[in-house]
Amino acid sequence: MKKIDKIISKKNKSKIVCLTAYSKNFAEEVDKHVDIILVGDSLGSVLYNYSTTRKVSLTEMINHSKSVRLGVKKSLMVVDMPYKTYDTTTSALKNAKKVLKETNCDAVKLEGGRKIIKQIKYLIKNNIPVMGHLGLLPQSVKGKFKSKGKNDKEIKQLINDANLLEKNGVFAIVLECVKTPIAKKITQNLNIPTIGIGSSVHCDGQVLVTDDLLGLNETKIKFVKKFLNIKKYIKEGVKRYASEVRSKKYPSKKHSY
Ligand code: KIV
Repeated sequence: MKKIDKIISKKNKSKIVCLTAYSKNFAEEVDKHVDIILVGDSLGSVLYNYSTTRKVSLTEMINHSKSVRLGVKKSLMVVDMPYKTYDTTTSALKNAKKVLKETNCDAVKLEGGRKIIKQIKYLIKNNIPVMGHLGLLPQSVKGKFKSKGKNDKEIKQLINDANLLEKNGVFAIVLECVKTPIAKKITQNLNIPTIGIGSSVHCDGQVLVTDDLLGLNETKIKFVKKFLNIKKYIKEGVKRYASEVRSKKYPSKKHSY
């Protein structure tokens, strides 16, 4: 079974696990436990301290994705198309083809619904698998991040957009910060899976930024749960190394040519 069909077939059977990776070593470990690895443009804020994902370039996404590819053996690898790289059908196809060719990823993710449906349709027509992204769209936010689905207009738009994306062939949709009842309704309405982030347990799967769940990236976002304090282990290792260098315990004969 093709990787994408396998992901779709999990709907209503087992939860889909998705995490981000930005480099080979992380991807290698994450790959063993997840179904989807996303090279998210969140790398802009997590790795480069950019104030917005709008600053992430196609070259940055491609370079990180090339590294991730080296660590991914079994998961479906999805790469975020950065801001301004899919403004028109022509630019979307040119840039998505470049991403697929240079990174050998399995699919791309684009943020938005009806406003970018022409681009999504065009990519799929040209055999480029697309993952959708609705709700809070970081590439469109100016100012504070807010949850979505709070009033009738937002609810109607979200439901219509989700249906439109499915009708036009996306294989899954990320729902970011969508109110619980709306995420539940969208998930029930669709035959393709929803992958939630801050959008409740009712989604078909979940995604988080790996650096956040490991406690590498300090954040106060409501949906982030810190599953490990990895900084504690980094501190321990680095402290031991520094101490052994200073006391001349390291390098011993064993570690010297
Ligand atoms: O950029 C990203 O990492 C994402 C996920 C958090 C959904 O889009």
